[in-house]
Amino acid sequence: MNAPDNKDIAVIVVAAGSGSRFGGAVAKQFCLLGDRPLLMHSIDAFRNALPGCRVVVALAPEMRGVWDDLCREYGYVSPAVTEGGATRAESVRNALAAVPDDTHIIMVHDAARPLVSRAVISGVLAAAAEHGAAVPVVPVTDSLRRADTGMAVDRAPFRAVQTPQAFLADVLRRAYAAPLSPSFTDDASVVEAAGHPVTMVDGSPENIKITWPRDIAVAAALMNAADGPEH
Ligand code: CTP
Ligand code: MG
Repeated sequence: MNAPDNKDIAVIVVAAGSGSRFGGAVAKQFCLLGDRPLLMHSIDAFRNALPGCRVVVALAPEMRGVWDDLCREYGYVSPAVTEGGATRAESVRNALAAVPDDTHIIMVHDAARPLVSRAVISGVLAAAAEHGAAVPVVPVTDSLRRADTGMAVDRAPFRAVQTPQAFLADVLRRAYAAPLSPSFTDDASVVEAAGHPVTMVDGSPENIKITWPRDIAVAAALMNAADGPEH
């Protein structure tokens, strides 16, 4: 199948979480990373990789003013904004209502992953265009043990799942039309529960999710290394 036109691709950036593990006065997605707030990096990764794609960002209603102020301060043009929900899945469901009907592929990305590369974006996109649903994954590098029995587990068959996750629009819309289970931690689990298989493609160990305060320093170092003279 041919690669879709960028204008037929919509990207939902979920940014409505409270960042409870990160802590601090303002949720992590609004914190400064290098020269601008983290959320702007996450949005720009797609604007740069897929010029002309449609972006929808889900924000907690009480953070709308903070975001508008940041956009003014940084001279940044915001994409369309929708209201987030109480859970990540509810934020995605709300944002889906703002995705134009004629969209061919919908990608969903965590605002908390500002370092996503063009290679990862194009990899999941191509796999979703072909198979309907795709996620980027990386091998697990720590040893694994079960919390209940304390027994060691063979890590070889396991993969850690990242975002962006990409789907044919009707596959994602149909999946999110069904009741949401609290066990859904990502969009692929919603799609899989609706009966559609999910294809895995290579993610990147650098596509980290900002979770703890120290992750900002790690992300800044990775960004500087990527901008360095050796690249
Ligand atoms: N998210 C969202 N709506 C929610 C919860 C999460 O849009 N109700 C988003 C977050 O803003 C984040 C992404 O989903 O970009 C992944 O979630 P996570 O990293 O867990 O962020 P938080 O839920 O904000 O952080 P924490 O779990 O530490 O509270
Ligand atoms: Mg969370």
